[in-house]
Amino acid sequence: MSDQAANLREKLQFAKQPKSKVIGIVSGKGGVGKSNFSLNFAISLCQKNKKVLLLDFDVGMGNIDVLLGTVTNLSIIDIFDKNLTIRDIMNIGPIGLKYISGGSGLSSIFSLSETKLSHLFNELDDAMEEFDYIIFDMGAGVSEQTIKLLSAMHEIIVITTPEPTAIMDAYAMIKHLVLNQVSAKLSMVINRINSQKEGESVHLRLGHAIKHFMNVEVNLLGMICDDPSVRKAVISQKPFILHTPSSQPSKNIEFISKKYVNEDFNEQPSHSFIHRMKSLFLKR
Ligand SMILES: Nc1ncnc2c1ncn2[C@@H]1O[C@H](COP(=O)(O)OP(=O)(O)OP(=O)(O)O)[C@@H](O)[C@H]1O
Ligand SMILES: [Mg+2]
Repeated sequence: MSDQAANLREKLQFAKQPKSKVIGIVSGKGGVGKSNFSLNFAISLCQKNKKVLLLDFDVGMGNIDVLLGTVTNLSIIDIFDKNLTIRDIMNIGPIGLKYISGGSGLSSIFSLSETKLSHLFNELDDAMEEFDYIIFDMGAGVSEQTIKLLSAMHEIIVITTPEPTAIMDAYAMIKHLVLNQVSAKLSMVINRINSQKEGESVHLRLGHAIKHFMNVEVNLLGMICDDPSVRKAVISQKPFILHTPSSQPSKNIEFISKKYVNEDFNEQPSHSFIHRMKSLFLKR
């Protein structure tokens, strides 16, 4: 009997183990390539048979639709306004990618009443567990609300370019996260490099300053070359890994997602994103 009870307890614990890993894509400076990275990284993970949900969380400036050349009219707020479920507002993108558009809705979810927010979290809880990865394309900079959202996540990827202004702003963003005790694993991606050497020098300088002044390790997830094919793909409204698969940035994304999936293999999410969101946003 006690064996059976132990068995059941083990099964329940296993069932509770969160499956989805929630990743926030942020930057200090705007326009450094967050949306392009989020979308192409997400599609590349789908190409590896991962189930991915991409959320366009760029307040008021949602760009994923524009990068995909699609028009979607529904956003999170329609769950309440039009009485829809979370699955109704999910769009299907290339390679089976699911995404939720920014619209104007996502920016106002934090001002919802407790009852509505609680209902939203329950909706998300059901839907999210089917995904391996949930990727939030965040806007540049942070507010008090986005810091809370980021502190519920498992991992944060900071995007920068080699420009001194972008590096300074990435440093300031990481400092802000650390000072606010955001415990998510931190990684960086250096976008728009002109040479491997240039990227390595950015990583060395930024990584060293962060380690020295904040005593925090930021893992280098990868680097992406500066290449005209990205701009061409944006103009064609097609993700660049599908528009020009043989380009250097496409190969860089492939390398990053392969490395990411391999390194991620043994790392189970430490907590449930939704449970943490509930404890951060709902008074109990
Ligand atoms: N690797 C690259 N090579 C060449 N151009 C690039 C590269 N990455 C981004 N760009 C250019 O930078 C532009 C901005 O990229 P993107 O929209 O992804 O930035 P963002 O960080 O999401 O911007 P925002 O802060 O406004 O949300 C792209 O439209 C493209 O022209
Ligand atoms: Mg963007």
